[in-house]
Amino acid sequence: MKNRTIIFEKRPVGKPTNEVFKFVEETVPQPENGEVLLKTVYVSVDPYLRGRMNNSKSYVDPFNLNEPITSGIVAEVIESKNSQFAKGDVVAGMLGWSEYQVSDGAGLYKVNSNVTPLSVYQGILGMPGLTAYLGFTEIRQPKAGETLVVSGAAGAVGLLVGQIGKLLGCHVVGIAGSDEKVELLKSEFGFDEAINYKTTKRMNKSIAEVCPNGVDIYFDNVGGEISDGVIMNINKFARIIICGAISLYNETRIPMGPRLQGSLLVNSALMKGFIVNDYSAQFPKTIVQLTKWFLEGKLKNKETVVEGFENIPNAFIGLFEGSNIGKMMVKI
Ligand SMILES: NC(=O)c1ccc[n+]([C@@H]2O[C@H](COP(=O)([O-])OP(=O)(O)OC[C@H]3O[C@@H](n4cnc5c(N)ncnc54)[C@H](OP(=O)(O)O)[C@@H]3O)[C@@H](O)[C@H]2O)c1
Repeated sequence: MKNRTIIFEKRPVGKPTNEVFKFVEETVPQPENGEVLLKTVYVSVDPYLRGRMNNSKSYVDPFNLNEPITSGIVAEVIESKNSQFAKGDVVAGMLGWSEYQVSDGAGLYKVNSNVTPLSVYQGILGMPGLTAYLGFTEIRQPKAGETLVVSGAAGAVGLLVGQIGKLLGCHVVGIAGSDEKVELLKSEFGFDEAINYKTTKRMNKSIAEVCPNGVDIYFDNVGGEISDGVIMNINKFARIIICGAISLYNETRIPMGPRLQGSLLVNSALMKGFIVNDYSAQFPKTIVQLTKWFLEGKLKNKETVVEGFENIPNAFIGLFEGSNIGKMMVKI
């Protein structure tokens, strides 16, 4: 049987293209004692993978050229020589972009194969869910009645932050990149207001209009000019969480923005970078809470599912074009 793998061929400069990736075809590997053979079911594509394509210091190591790209994957055990796993188990973990691969089981955890779709283990019940919950509730201590602004609001993390904000009684404003997304945030996901940043002439003014009481919490997924406009509206004791900066990931030179020190100073505001893996001790209890809300229907799952192994690179590139609503997943 043939097995396709996607190799990291070339470091991108600016927005990634298909030249970054190379498909190789080999025979399906055989598991040795202590190993399992896995068949990939879902592949998660995520903005942070762009950072790993640069050869620079970050909170995760860069990808090595000529090696398989790795990301969060849900896979089925199709053969096991490892006593921890049985044929038919479904597992999740960081794995390579291959149709089939062997693993010694390190870092893999079994997931409930009755949950549909299984992709939730890379979404609400995976890294985006942990990021949304821990970044927002643990770090920013929201209070009912406060105004929360979320950028990247129609994406995997943003949609969850907005929904959790509503569950905790906040006035929630989302910022996203199309009228369709803006409409959906309000009609399906309970956001009080939403702004299309692509058609808004002055973000500062648009935020002021929909946040008459100012901004208490800003959950920032995008950075850049959108965030400059939001931060001009912060209240005294505002909390700004820097979760992501996707608008800057493909920049070869970071554009100069306004100096924020004055605004943070006069508002006694706090701005903090957040990396979800720093909070791993809290993952188990967070997953319990997220599972409860998910099963109760209080957190709605939303995904954009691209079909086919050959479409993984395009799904990844699509993140930088706004082609997803909710979690971007590839079904193999
Ligand atoms: N700190 C952490 O531990 C952590 C963990 C997970 C994710 N993150 C970060 O959180 C952010 C969201 O991640 P995600 O997985 O939920 O991705 P996502 O939001 O599902 O997908 C990316 C979205 O970003 C928006 N976007 C793309 N280019 C943009 C630009 N130039 N300006 C503004 N928006 C742009 C697009 O939506 P539009 O149509 O709205 O443009 C796109 O759909 C990312 O920055 C990611 O790196 C951080």
